[in-house]
Amino acid sequence: MSLLPVDTSQTGVVKKIVVLASGSGSNFQSIIESVQSGRIKANVAGLVAGKPGIGAIEHAEKAGIPFTILDASTTEELSSQLHKAFDRWQPNLIVLAGFLRKIPDDVVKAWEGKIINIHPSLLPKYGGKGFYGIHVHKAVLEAGETESGCSVHYVNEKYDDGDIIRQTTVPVHPGETPDTLAKRILAEEHKLLPAVISELLNRQS
Ligand code: GRF
Repeated sequence: MSLLPVDTSQTGVVKKIVVLASGSGSNFQSIIESVQSGRIKANVAGLVAGKPGIGAIEHAEKAGIPFTILDASTTEELSSQLHKAFDRWQPNLIVLAGFLRKIPDDVVKAWEGKIINIHPSLLPKYGGKGFYGIHVHKAVLEAGETESGCSVHYVNEKYDDGDIIRQTTVPVHPGETPDTLAKRILAEEHKLLPAVISELLNRQS
C-alpha cells in the first residue's frame, strides 16, 4: 500500500517524518504501519538508508516511500548528504531507527530538538560507542541485570546521550539469552517508537 499524505490539521499542513536506518528496518516498518493506520498523523517523506541492500529499503519500496542511499566515507560527506536530504524533505521530525553512524555536530545543531533515536537498553545504561545490536543484550546479561528495555531520546553530539523522552522496561527472564532478550525488547520498540513520534508531532504547533 502506498502512503498517501494525511492532512493532520485544520490548516491543511501535512507533517513530515524522515527516517534513517542501517539495517533490517523493523522499526521503520512499525512507523509505516502506524502512518497507514492513522496512529501517526503524518507522512513519511523519505528514508535515508545507511547502505545499499538493507531491509529498510525494501520496506520503503513496498510502501512507495522515496529513499536515498548514503555514500559517505568522511564526516564531511555524511554531513553534506544529510543536509541535502533534510533540506529536500523538510521534516518536522527526524527518526533514527537502527542508524549506526554518529550524526555530525553541524547537522545536530541545524535540526536541534527534532532528531530522536531508539536504543535497546534502559539508557543511560548500556549506551554509547560499541553498545549496539546484540552487544547491548550480552552486556546486560553478563552484568546480571534483572531488567532491561528500550529508550527513545533526543540526539545530541554524543552517542545515545541526549535527553530521554520515554522508556519501556522489559524483565530479564531466567535462562534468557541475548537473542531472546533482543526479540522481546524489539517487540516493545515497535510500540514505543510510534507512540513517541505521535506524541511529539502532536505537541508541535
Ligand atoms: C533496534 O534494536 C534499535 O533499538 C537499534 O537498532 C535496532 C534496529 O532494528 N538502534 P531494526 O532495523 O529496526 O529492525
